[in-house]
Amino acid sequence: MNPPFDVAEQAATYASKSPQDILKLAFEHFGDELWISFSGAEDVVLVDMAWKLNKNVKVFSLDTGRLHPETYRFIEQVREHYGISIELLSPDAAAVEALVKEKGLFSFYKDGHGECCGVRKIAPLRRKLSTARAWASGQRRDQSPGTRSQVAVLEIDAAFSTADKPLYKFNPLANMTSEEVWGYIRMLELPYNSLHERGFISIGCEPCTRPVLPNQHEREGRWWWEEATQKECGLHAGNLIAKS
Ligand code: ADX
Ligand code: SF4
Repeated sequence: MNPPFDVAEQAATYASKSPQDILKLAFEHFGDELWISFSGAEDVVLVDMAWKLNKNVKVFSLDTGRLHPETYRFIEQVREHYGISIELLSPDAAAVEALVKEKGLFSFYKDGHGECCGVRKIAPLRRKLSTARAWASGQRRDQSPGTRSQVAVLEIDAAFSTADKPLYKFNPLANMTSEEVWGYIRMLELPYNSLHERGFISIGCEPCTRPVLPNQHEREGRWWWEEATQKECGLHAGNLIAKS
């Protein structure tokens, strides 16, 4: 990382800049040590923007084992469309087996999504981020009034930094609205997840995602049996730490 990187100063400078400018800053400072996290949904916009700036962009997806078939197909489509490799991160097999053996395949409906997300998403993410200097997510302020309304365009990751290594997190789409994201997808004819044609807006794992009705907020389609304030799976736990 050269030259020194002052997060507070850069976050203030870039607060209103375009997603592309934010990504440029990220690549300038972190180059190959920057990873893009792609969920297989409308964050294809982030992949598109990053790829246009750096054809060697590094991308990973967390393969929880519970994604929709459409999402797996879409991840593959994006891989082929851009000619990039997308690193798929699997959960630890023994940990999944132990959870399913003890609690079955749908324990999250009874005792919350924390444990299953912990095994299937957070542990693999932690493993990945321990090798990275910086990462970029597609989260946006308008995605969740309860937990994302303050998302900064860049920050120190409060959840995944370690005592000896700060982890930088970029949220280049933070200020984009859903309408702008979809304007971008349609105008540039990007590929998109076919679930969006069936009323899905926010897309996560199959058992924990459902379509929303007209005028329902997109977040209501995620972990709908839980309180709105708990609807972070831990990937972006920094949002909750920042609020507390
Ligand atoms: S989540 O935390 O509630 O699941 P959401 O679906 O809103 O997140 O997506 C916000 C951003 O989190 C995505 O743009 C992506 O950067 C990251 N993300 C979410 N799910 C995954 C996943 N399965 N693999 C990689 N990144 C993901
Ligand atoms: Fe498990 Fe649901 Fe979390 Fe996916 S979103 S890891 S299925 S609790």
